[in-house]
Amino acid sequence: MAADTDLGQIVMLKLGANNPATKPALTDELVASVKTKTSAALNLLSAAASEFGANNITFANSFGAEDMVLTDIIQRNQLAIEIFSLDTGRLPIETYDLIAQTEKTYHTKLKIFFPQAEAVETYVRTNGINAFYESIDLRKACCFMRKVEPLQRALKGKKAWVTGMRAEQSTTRVNLPFREFDTGNKLEKFNPLSDWTEQEVWAYIRLHEVPYNKLHDQFYPSIGCAPCTRAITSGEDVRAGRWWWEDPNNKECGLHVKK
Ligand code: ADX
Ligand code: SF4
Repeated sequence: MAADTDLGQIVMLKLGANNPATKPALTDELVASVKTKTSAALNLLSAAASEFGANNITFANSFGAEDMVLTDIIQRNQLAIEIFSLDTGRLPIETYDLIAQTEKTYHTKLKIFFPQAEAVETYVRTNGINAFYESIDLRKACCFMRKVEPLQRALKGKKAWVTGMRAEQSTTRVNLPFREFDTGNKLEKFNPLSDWTEQEVWAYIRLHEVPYNKLHDQFYPSIGCAPCTRAITSGEDVRAGRWWWEDPNNKECGLHVKK
């Protein structure tokens, strides 16, 4: 299927880098709810770090807005939770800039996992460099080799992992618990921001001056790989720009699929 890869660019040029969602008015009510939810997230993460032990719990950081909130909470409170990221090799330049900025801001080195070179070479030689647009199967195969397999290596030997998922992000994430057993990867999974609103995420980022991906200001609320992410228009679902050519009720890359 031919994907309209230019549309995101056109929308961005029309609207400029001025997404109001990234700059909510910091009302007393909003600041209070962020404070309450930050304490709850910190308590959950601290308890998880104590329960599982320093080398056994790891946080999957995609460098999206939610994950920058969690990065800040973990670093600010020096929690014994390792941070890793999956570099698919197809991330936007703005994400690489943010990875570098995050390491600098928090004086830390993050654990980056890459796809297996041989798997990428075979896929690309067999199917083509942008084959993910051609069918759901080829898209899922690309996500598997660039994200899911590296995730399996990142989680190997761990007892728990942490994600930045929120329930209101998608129809596939409603009723997302704060804690669940990840039957696919066979370890405990924590979603400390499950009940956060997009507004609360941005209020936290503004209040704590957390670094964030510049694409968010250009109407990219959810950011994945560059060729599979585009800007959204006003009123669209926050994940509408991810794999926009696919059915919204089935848009997961395989990192969070239940078995
Ligand atoms: S995805 O499954 O559609 O790609 P999304 O971008 O919403 O997921 O991110 C949900 C959570 O999955 C993130 O908060 C993060 O914990 C994890 N995640 C997604 N992509 C990555 C990545 N490249 N590296 C590490 N963790 C990731
Ligand atoms: Fe491949 Fe797109 Fe999935 Fe990235 S999001 S791994 S480029 S199919």
